[in-house]
Formats: sequence, structure tokens, C-alpha cells
Amino acid sequence: MAANKSVLFLPGDGIGAEVAAEVKKVIDWMGDNRALKFDITDGLIGGTAYDETGSPLPRETIDAADAADAVLLGAVGGPKWETLPFEDQPERGLLGIRKEMGLFANLRPALVFDALADASTLKYDVVAGLDIMILRELSSGIYFGEPRGIEDLGDGKRRGYNTLTYTSDEVRRIGEVAFDLAAKRDKRVCSIDKANVLQATVMWREEMIKVGERHPDIELSHMYVDNAAMQLVRNPKQFDVVVTTNMFGDILSDCAAMLTGSLGMLPSASLGEPDESGSRPALYEPVHGSAPDIAGQGIANPLAMILSFSMMLRYSFDLADEANAVDAAVEAVLAKGLRTGDIMEDGKTRVSTEEMGAAVLAELSGAA
Ligand code: IPM
Ligand code: MG
Repeated sequence: MAANKSVLFLPGDGIGAEVAAEVKKVIDWMGDNRALKFDITDGLIGGTAYDETGSPLPRETIDAADAADAVLLGAVGGPKWETLPFEDQPERGLLGIRKEMGLFANLRPALVFDALADASTLKYDVVAGLDIMILRELSSGIYFGEPRGIEDLGDGKRRGYNTLTYTSDEVRRIGEVAFDLAAKRDKRVCSIDKANVLQATVMWREEMIKVGERHPDIELSHMYVDNAAMQLVRNPKQFDVVVTTNMFGDILSDCAAMLTGSLGMLPSASLGEPDESGSRPALYEPVHGSAPDIAGQGIANPLAMILSFSMMLRYSFDLADEANAVDAAVEAVLAKGLRTGDIMEDGKTRVSTEEMGAAVLAELSGAA
């Protein structure tokens, strides 16, 4: 039996801790029943980290993340910390850990579970069976570009600015990930840019075409981001893998998430470059935020976080059978009509965070 896998748990703020508690039960179940032992350590990030240490990303957390085989993060942010100086806000913790770990590839699958196709605000036929992968570049672009800031121009005037920058290497490495993903899916990549306006994305498109030439079996298309936003809502099933810049990916992935009926359902994986031994920095987190409005009430949807753990099994540990078992358990509880508030519909059974977690466990153990 291989050595235990080490996982750093960063519940973060708001509902993070509640949903993380349910994932821990799934992880324990894997340990007891599949002989897959995980060594879990807990760490601090976001507003809670700021409250305890004075920093949204303590050095200890970065070191622990580097030492772990994978990181599982809840969510960060909340009104409590919104008035802090920019550098101390919880979001700096999240962006900081992405940067520190070199996580450049953010996989955000948007998958519509059969049982939830009616929960989407879009028509059933538009979303039923949807399975697309948004691949967002995560460590560069306008999120990190320099120069950036707010400057005083005198006379009470100010100027705020950020810089959209990509190097050709950065485009190529995210491009390679897109084509690799497509090779295991429907063999289509759509690259999203704004090449009719932004030079940085003219270069993005040119480099994507070069990457595409190395993968002749994969179809490459291009779309401007405004059209892509429209197409995602008009006919999302036309896409397979969508690859795009940091900010466009942020926006389009929220849009794609809503196609599925709830932000509370969507997991994500953020991956870095593999080292010489083949091990790859990886962080898994739900796409949803910390939902301060419902935090502490025990009603948050734990499924996105449970599915994030499933992505960890798949992408960090190559345990497709176990990942499939978790996915199937989630699908089964939904098929049985169990719903947290965010995905509640008439005629279904409303359950708490804990009840949802327990139902997934029961499915996994075949006790349901
Ligand atoms: C996301 C979030 C973050 C981002 C925020 C919380 C910094 O919206 O993960 O999509 O913009 O990347
Ligand atoms: Mg976002």
C-alpha cells in the first residue's frame, strides 16, 4: 500500500467550515472502506486567518500547502472584512495561494445532473445533459499584471489602472492543458478572447493556433468573449472545452455555473506545473463563495465541496473508480429528491447540510 496522501484542509470563511465537515466524513469513509488513507491537516486562510494571525494568507499556510499532496479549500470572504485595507482582505489570501502554488490551470466543469435539469432558469432542452469544461488561466492576466494601482492626480482627481498581460509561454501552457482535456472528452477546444480590441488577446489567439497545430486531431475554434457569453446562454451544448483568460474565465464560469441550476453544485480544480517527480501542485475548491447570508445555519449545499474532493481523487491521485463512486453517490441523492435550499423545488425533500452529507455517505456505503 502506497504512503498516505496528505491533504491540507482550508475551510476559510462563511459556509466553508460547514461544507468542509461533510467532506471529511467522505474522506474518512474512503479510509475505512477503500484503504485510501489521507492525512488531513487544517490550516487558515481568508478572513478567519486574518482574525487569528493578522494575515489572510499566513506563511504557515503557504508552507503547509507546499508540503501537502493536495489542498482542499472551502471559501473566503464576508462583509465583516470588506472594510479592511485591500492587502488584508480575504480575497488576497485566495489569490495569494493560487500565485504561491503556481496554479495556472483552473478547471471548472459545468455539468447538469439529470435530476437538476429542471432547476435551471434555462429551458430543460437547452441544459439537459450539458457537460462542458471551462478552463480558466489562473495565475496571470489582468488579475496579476503590473502596473496596477490607484493614483492621485491632484485636484481631487484619481486614476485607477490594471494591466492585462500574457506571455506566449503562459498562453501555450494553458493551451496544452486545454488540448489534453479535450483529448479525453469530445475533442473540441474553443478559445475565448477579445482579439478585436485587446492586443494581449491577439497574441493569445495566435499562440493558441500554434498549440492547435500540434494537436491536429482536436478541433480548435475562437470566439470573442461577448459572443461567448451570449452563446453560453443560447446554446451551451455547442461547447466542449472552453479555454480563456483569468478574468474572462471568472465571468464565464459563473455564467456556466448558473446553467446547471446552482452555484452550490460546482467543483473546481486548480493545477500547477508537475515537478521532476511528476507531482503537481493542486488545489480544489467549490466555485461558490462563502455565502455569509446563510453561514452558520447548517443549510448550505455541501455537494460542490464533495465533488471538489472527487476531482482531487481524479486529478491528483488518479483514482478514477473512487471519484466515479463519489459522483454516483451525489447523483443518487439528487435522484432521490434530496435538496438543500439552493436547489429546492416543489415536491422535493429539503435537507440540511449534514443530512445531505449523511445521504451521500449512505449511498457510498450502499446502505441507502
Ligand atoms: C473565483 C472568485 C475569485 C476570483 C475571487 C473571490 C477573488 O470569484 O474564484 O471565481 O475572482 O478569482
Ligand atoms: Mg468568480
